[in-house]
Formats: sequence, C-alpha cells, structure tokens
Amino acid sequence: AKVAVLMGGLSAERDVSIMSGSGVLKALQSKGVNATAFDPAERSLDDLKREGYTHAFIALHGRYGEDGAVQGALELLGIPYTGSGVMASAMAMDKVMTKRVWSAVGLSTPGYVWLSPEDQTADNINAIPAKLGLPLIVKPPREGSSIGMSKVTQANEIKVAAELATKYDPDLLAEEFITGEELTCPILGNGPNARALPVVRIAAPDGAYDYNNKYFTDDVKYHCPSGLPEAEEREVQRLVVAAYRALGCRGWGRTDIMLRATDRKPFLLEMNTSPGMTSHSLVPMSARAAGISYEDLCLMLLESATL
Ligand code: DAL
Ligand code: MG
Repeated sequence: AKVAVLMGGLSAERDVSIMSGSGVLKALQSKGVNATAFDPAERSLDDLKREGYTHAFIALHGRYGEDGAVQGALELLGIPYTGSGVMASAMAMDKVMTKRVWSAVGLSTPGYVWLSPEDQTADNINAIPAKLGLPLIVKPPREGSSIGMSKVTQANEIKVAAELATKYDPDLLAEEFITGEELTCPILGNGPNARALPVVRIAAPDGAYDYNNKYFTDDVKYHCPSGLPEAEEREVQRLVVAAYRALGCRGWGRTDIMLRATDRKPFLLEMNTSPGMTSHSLVPMSARAAGISYEDLCLMLLESATL
C-alpha cells in the first residue's frame, strides 16, 4: 500500500487539518506504513493516480475536504478513502441539512432558524431572539471548529453575530442554546456494526469552548470517562449511533451533544465526518479510554478505507 494523508486544503480549518494530518502521518509511519503528506490545495488530486497511491487517509476538515467534494474526486479516481462517502459527507457538513434529517427520524436537535441570503433582511435577523429565546447561538452552517460562531446573550448582539457568521457562509443558522453539559462522542464502524466510543465531557471556562480553547490553550478540562451516570452514558451512545446511521455515515465520526440541565435530555448539535486528530482532539482521547492508542486508531481507520 502507498498511502496519501490528505491534509491542508482550502477551508477555514486548514491549519487544524495540518495539525491533524501531521499526527496521522507520523502515527502511520511509526506503524511501518508507506505514507506521505498530500495537500490538495497545492497539488492536483490527479497526481494521486499518476504517482501510484493506493489509499487516501482524509485528514482534511471543512469545505472541499469533509463535504463530499474530495470524496467524489477519489471515487472517480478509484482510490479507496477513509470515512464517509459523498452523500453523508455533504449532509453532515451542512448543519441545517443534518438537522432536517435528524428531525425527520425523530432525533432531538435544538430548535433553529435558517436564513438563506435573500431572507437575511434586518427584520428577519432582528426577529430571531423572539423566536428562539436568549441566549442563542449563531453559526455559519458549513464550518467547523467554532469558526464564525457567536453566543448571543442580548437581542441587540444578533446583528454583529450574523455579520460574523456570514463572512464564512452565505447561509445563516441560529440555534436555541441548550444550557447543560457539553459532550462529544466518537463512533466507529459501519451500519449495524457501528459502535460508540466513550463519551467525553467538556468543561470549558465560562462555557467558552471556542477555536482558541479548542487547539491552543489548556484551559478546557476534558473528562473521559465522562463521569455521567451509566444509564445516561449509554443513552448518549445510543443516540449518537442512531444519528450516525441516519446520515449514512461510515468509517468514523464524532457527534457533539448538549445534555440539558433541567431534564437531562440530550440534544444533537452536529456530526463531524472528518474529526480532528490534533494533540488536543477528542476522538483520540476517547479511543485511548477504550484502550485504543492513537497509532492503532490511525491504522484501524486506514484499514477501513473503502470506495
Ligand atoms: N472540525 C474539527 C476538526 C472537529 O470537529 O474536530
Ligand atoms: Mg464540527
């Protein structure tokens, strides 16, 4: 096998992808895999074929890497790749599409308002707090790593939050804020064999689990084992597997969840089909709690690569 670790790319999460890809590359090489870094922003994917690569490990995040675009190109090239296929990748990249799918199959996700560019009038934007209540969250629907996201605590902050989000995506998503515990849970495998790894509970200072805290500080405390009561842990795991299967994901993924403080009800926030693999990332942390080293995880994922 000759493996290309795809990293870098064209999205706002390029820097994160380089951190993920560097970790994956080193891990695969340490296991004796013939692996090389490949940046699709700098080179044509055609080179993969020309240079005899047999497999692609996708360590790209965000648009063009996690959204089905690269997956479609690899399908056409006939090169097996890690993670979800074209459709699941495309749906999971779009938080609005994801919510529609989950709602359609009865999985709980926070209430939301979606505004396409032509609907983003001042009146429609100013009406959001009354619809969702405060606080609320404003996000670009097709971004990751909290890029372009704001928490709105006063109605007059909605305008600035919308302006920031629409720098990253023409569409706008505003979401009800669920007060409670912030959780994330990885899923491995396919179809009926998909299984959840241990839940990670995230304790961020002042609830600020933002881009900087995600990758560059040690201010966030992560708990894995989560410390949740056994029954709650299992319920969250059941929910994330259902969420993964509803989108048709394969290989691996990681779902972010809020566990509502008032009634301990879990709400699905989103599905990441190419989760971070940086030193601060949570799939490696959860895998470790399940007895799977970072290196073994990378190898397992590579072995699951398919067309
Ligand atoms: N979008 C980042 C990479 C993650 O979910 O881990
Ligand atoms: Mg994400």
